Amino acid sequence: MASRAAEFLNMKQQGEKFVVLTAYDAPTARIEVEAGVDIVMVGDSVGTNVLGYASEREVTLDDMAHHIAAVRRGAPDAYVIGDLPYATYESETQALASAALLVRAGADCVKFEGARPQIVQALKREGHDVCCHIGLESQHQQGKRRQGKTAEAAGTLLADALALDAAGMDFIVLELVPRELAATITKRLRAPTIGIGAGADCDSQVLVVHDLAALGTRDFKHNRRYGALADALREAVAAYARDVREGRFPAAENGFSMEPAELAAFEKSIA
Ligand code: KIV
Repeated sequence: MASRAAEFLNMKQQGEKFVVLTAYDAPTARIEVEAGVDIVMVGDSVGTNVLGYASEREVTLDDMAHHIAAVRRGAPDAYVIGDLPYATYESETQALASAALLVRAGADCVKFEGARPQIVQALKREGHDVCCHIGLESQHQQGKRRQGKTAEAAGTLLADALALDAAGMDFIVLELVPRELAATITKRLRAPTIGIGAGADCDSQVLVVHDLAALGTRDFKHNRRYGALADALREAVAAYARDVREGRFPAAENGFSMEPAELAAFEKSIA
């Protein structure tokens, strides 16, 4: 069966943008697909956004498989990209075993960080769809620093992107790189680019859903808040707490009563 990655390659060739967004659970994935997201990405950002970890490095393969499976249940027909976590693709053999686990959990495509064309080739030989990720690599670089700002750094990132493209990758995430560099990479590559903090000329954009919906506490220059879910949830929970304390919840309509005859029999039995 032809890989569904070809659909997105075709969109790039037609100049049609597609939309990528992270999700980590079934209801969010379902809502995203209903709202028109083309690709659901289960990023290792699950670690800091959902699991309470201090860093992406703490995310395990089992964490990823657990969340990919949840997303797959919520969005059975979505194209799902899943992250290979830190230190799970150090060799071709390890990358293949890690990828197989994520695909069994429901991923259509596996993503990893860094310029490792030989890992792309190994994964492609086994028939996997592959998404690369360069620029800011949260797994490998401490701190959220912008990348590719000098001519030399930009040249290195372009060379890395070209090598990964030649190795046969299906997508590449460009994170926190200058818009001019992202535009050049997008023009020079066969594979579609997915930008985050990389300007408007990428073939697609991705955001972290917790940032987009303001469910987390931090905001970033590359992000735009399209909602205020943390505020909405806080208000809903505070209203519930008030109602419980003041006896307004539950109301009669939130419960049910015994049939009068059953109630009479019960009361008689305990009299
Ligand atoms: O982990 C993640 O969510 C990502 C995106 C930010 C691209 O890698």
